[in-house]
Amino acid sequence: MDKDRKPFSLPEGFMLGTATASLQIEGGDKNNSWYRWAEQGHIKDGTHCIVADDHWNRVDEDIQLVKQLNSKVYRMSLEWSRIEPHKGQFDKAAIDHYRDEIQKLISAGIKPLVTLHHFSNPLWLEDSGSWLNEEAIDSFEAYTAYVVSQLGDIVSEWVTINEPNIYLIMSYAFGHWPPGKKSILDYFKGAKNMILAHIKSYKKIHELRKEMGYEDSMVGVAFHLRVYDPKKGTAIEKLVAKNTERLSQEIFVAGMTEGKLIFPVGSGYPMGKGKYFDFFGINYYTRDIISFTPDLGKAFAKTEVKEDAPINDLGWEIYPEGLYRLCKSYYDRFKLPIFITENGTCDSRDAFRTEYIYDHLYQVKKLVEDGVDVQRYYHWTLMDNFEWIEGLSARFGVVEVNFDTLERTIRKSGRFYSELSENNGVTADMIERYL
Ligand code: BGC
Repeated sequence: MDKDRKPFSLPEGFMLGTATASLQIEGGDKNNSWYRWAEQGHIKDGTHCIVADDHWNRVDEDIQLVKQLNSKVYRMSLEWSRIEPHKGQFDKAAIDHYRDEIQKLISAGIKPLVTLHHFSNPLWLEDSGSWLNEEAIDSFEAYTAYVVSQLGDIVSEWVTINEPNIYLIMSYAFGHWPPGKKSILDYFKGAKNMILAHIKSYKKIHELRKEMGYEDSMVGVAFHLRVYDPKKGTAIEKLVAKNTERLSQEIFVAGMTEGKLIFPVGSGYPMGKGKYFDFFGINYYTRDIISFTPDLGKAFAKTEVKEDAPINDLGWEIYPEGLYRLCKSYYDRFKLPIFITENGTCDSRDAFRTEYIYDHLYQVKKLVEDGVDVQRYYHWTLMDNFEWIEGLSARFGVVEVNFDTLERTIRKSGRFYSELSENNGVTADMIERYL
C-alpha cells in the first residue's frame, strides 16, 4: 500500500454514502431463508439474524447516523419475504414501512438506491425450488411490479439483484448458504434464471415508471467482481484465470448487460439483444491468485491469497489497485456510468479501515482523472451487522454496534469517512489527524 498519502479531491457532483442489506440489519422476520438457516444452526459463530441491528425498529436513529456521515446517497434493500409473505399476497403495511423510511431519507437530503434482491428469499419461494425453478423469474417480475407501483414515484434508482454469482455459488455450488445445494449444474441453472429475472425486472421498472411519467430511471445489477491474477504468469495459469473469470463473472455480465447467454449457461439472446443496465454496479473487495490444479471439480483453478499481502480479518487481500483495474476495464468496455455499489473491509478493531477507505478512494480519484465516469461510492457498510454465514462477529461497519445493547458508535474510520464526504476529498489536516 502507498504509505505516502497526500490530500486529494473528488470531482464535483461525486456522491459518497454507505450500503446495507435488509436481512443483515433489520431483524424480526421469520419468513425468509436465512432465518431458517440460522435456526438450523449453520451460522459459524452460533449467532442469529433474528435481531441483527433491530433496524426495523430503529429507522430514525439509523437515518441520523447516515446524516452524521454526511452521506448524499444510501443503498438499501427490501426484504421480499415481508413485502410478499405468501405468493401473490402483498403486505401493504410492510411496503408502507419502507416508503416511510425512504421518504425520511429523501427529506434528509439522501438519495436512495434500492435493491430488490440481496441474498434472502421468502420461504414460499425457497420451498418451491428457489432459483432453480424457472417460476422464480415470473415471481420476481411480479414482486418488482408491486414494489414499483408502490415506490416508483419516490425511487428512481434500482439494483435488481445483488451479486448473483456469490449468491449462487454459496447457495447451490458450495452449499454453505441456504438451500445448501452442492451442484455446479444447479449453479448454472440458477444463473440462467437470475439473468432472465434481471432482464424482466429491468424492463418492468422502466415500463412502469414511464407510465407514471418518469424518464429518469437508473437500473442495474451490483456485480461482485474480483481480480483473478495468474500466480507465476505461465500460459496455462493465464488460461485458468480467464476461465475462472468467465465462469464466475462473465456469464453474469454478458447476460445481465446485453442479454447474451454464454456456455455453459446457454446460447444466444433468448430475450433479445438489448441494453439492460443504465449504470454498471461493481462490488469490489479483493483479488485471488490463480494457479493450475488437475481438479476438474474446481475448473482446474487453485485459488490463493497473494503471499505477504495485507489482509483483513477474514483473510482477504487488501488490494486497492484492483478497484482501478476493474472500473477501468468495464468502463472501456461499456462506456456507461460506474457505481461502486459496495467496497469495504472486515476490521473488528478498526485498525486499518481508515487507510482502506483512503486507498480505495484514491484509486477512484485516479480513475476520474483518467476519464472513467465513476459517479458513486457506497461504502460497505453503515454499521456492523449479520455477516451471513460468519454471523455477527465479522465487522464491516464504519459504525460499531454493541450486539448486547444495540448501541451504535461511529468509529474513527466513520469520522474520517464523514469528513471525507463533507469535503469531497481528503485534506492535509485530515491526513495529519487520521492517517
Ligand atoms: C455482500 C454483502 C456482504 C459483503 C461482505 C458482499 O458480498 O453483498 O452482503 O456483507 O460482501 O462480505
